[in-house]
Amino acid sequence: MSKVQQNFSVVSDDADKPGPLQPASVRSLRSTTKRNASSEVAGPAPKIAVKVEKWTIESVCKNGRRLDLSSNEPNAASVIKTLFKEIHGSVLSKLNIHPLHWDECADSELGPFLKTFNNSVKAFRKKNPRDVLLSKENWRQKEASEFRVICDLACQLAIPNPRVLNTHYAGFSSGTYGETNIETLQKILDLLGVKEDDVFMDLGSGIGQLVTFAAAYTNIAHVRGIELQQVPAGFADENVRQFKKLMRHFGEKPRPFELKLGDFNTEEIETFLKEKATIIFCNNLAFDPDLMIKLRAILQFCNNGTKIVVTQKLETTKKGRTPRDCFFTASADTILLFETDGSEKGNVSWTNNIVPYYLTTVDNYKPFREAATRAKQEEANRLAKLMCSKKNGAKHGEKE
Ligand SMILES: C[S@@+](CC[C@H](N)C(=O)[O-])C[C@H]1O[C@@H](n2cnc3c(N)ncnc32)[C@H](O)[C@@H]1O
Repeated sequence: MSKVQQNFSVVSDDADKPGPLQPASVRSLRSTTKRNASSEVAGPAPKIAVKVEKWTIESVCKNGRRLDLSSNEPNAASVIKTLFKEIHGSVLSKLNIHPLHWDECADSELGPFLKTFNNSVKAFRKKNPRDVLLSKENWRQKEASEFRVICDLACQLAIPNPRVLNTHYAGFSSGTYGETNIETLQKILDLLGVKEDDVFMDLGSGIGQLVTFAAAYTNIAHVRGIELQQVPAGFADENVRQFKKLMRHFGEKPRPFELKLGDFNTEEIETFLKEKATIIFCNNLAFDPDLMIKLRAILQFCNNGTKIVVTQKLETTKKGRTPRDCFFTASADTILLFETDGSEKGNVSWTNNIVPYYLTTVDNYKPFREAATRAKQEEANRLAKLMCSKKNGAKHGEKE
């Protein structure tokens, strides 16, 4: 009997029904069943013992809900281990429960462990009805690392195999996929100093992890993302489902957010950028010149003060064009958001190199200020010249 069969003792009748993606071990068992069933010589297929375990975690937060996962969900076991390793450490010590060796423990150890944990949580609640095991103060202590963990785990549950994303996209092209890691987005949001009335838009939002993180981490008014390609947009839908489930488990409510499949090059998005967005993010490093023209075209009507974060500068660098020909040189200011010392690991998923993030702030008054400065300078030069010629005239007069 294989190790997998030994671990699963209950026979599942729906082993052949389509369902959520399975871990590799279970998937391989399924395909064996199908092959046997279609073989006339081999006779009826033997029933394969597959126990799908339900893994339940009681919430330890105020207003938190129970988290239900099952052993046939991709990455469910590693998600549970990470939750306990990264977040629940202090709770386990309060409950006098010894943690498992999270990096090594077998998935089969999770069921009994969770039973002990859940019983202890229930007993604690009964004894201390007013207390919470993990308070918001504890929760927010570690530079919001918990929100990063939640967003990361939601992605793990939603995308069983991230390589699908890499192989889906053609090599360096406008569609090239490459996630900005959540630490980098957190750094960007901190530097921008996001406020309650800000509205954030991710143009080309991929699997949506930046949108969910911004909705969890900030107190922003609204977050949106739009993604052209079906595959990442499909993952984004599942990512949202898992993110909401995990947030509910911790009693957290994200700010209003929305992820959509579609093209950012539309009137609806242009109007939104013009009228609502205050922070626009676009990981456009691989956008080709044609797409860059479209991107510039929809961004140049943004309100004064709109902050645009990009990985490929918006200023045109075409030969034969003066910087003044480009709106983003004439009416915006661009700075490198943060310097790197080269020691960090890559901040996007497709390269180990550090990708630079630039902040362009729309400044519609810049041309007027510059024109006023130029006029002042010209006037000063004119006066200086006049003084000079008067002085020279006087000198000549003296001599005569
Ligand atoms: C490098 S990925 C960035 C994903 C995500 N924003 C991040 O930084 O993690 C760029 C994304 O832009 C998308 N994209 C390209 N052109 C687009 C368009 N016209 N409308 C919407 N999305 C587009 C691509 O499909 C790709 O998923």
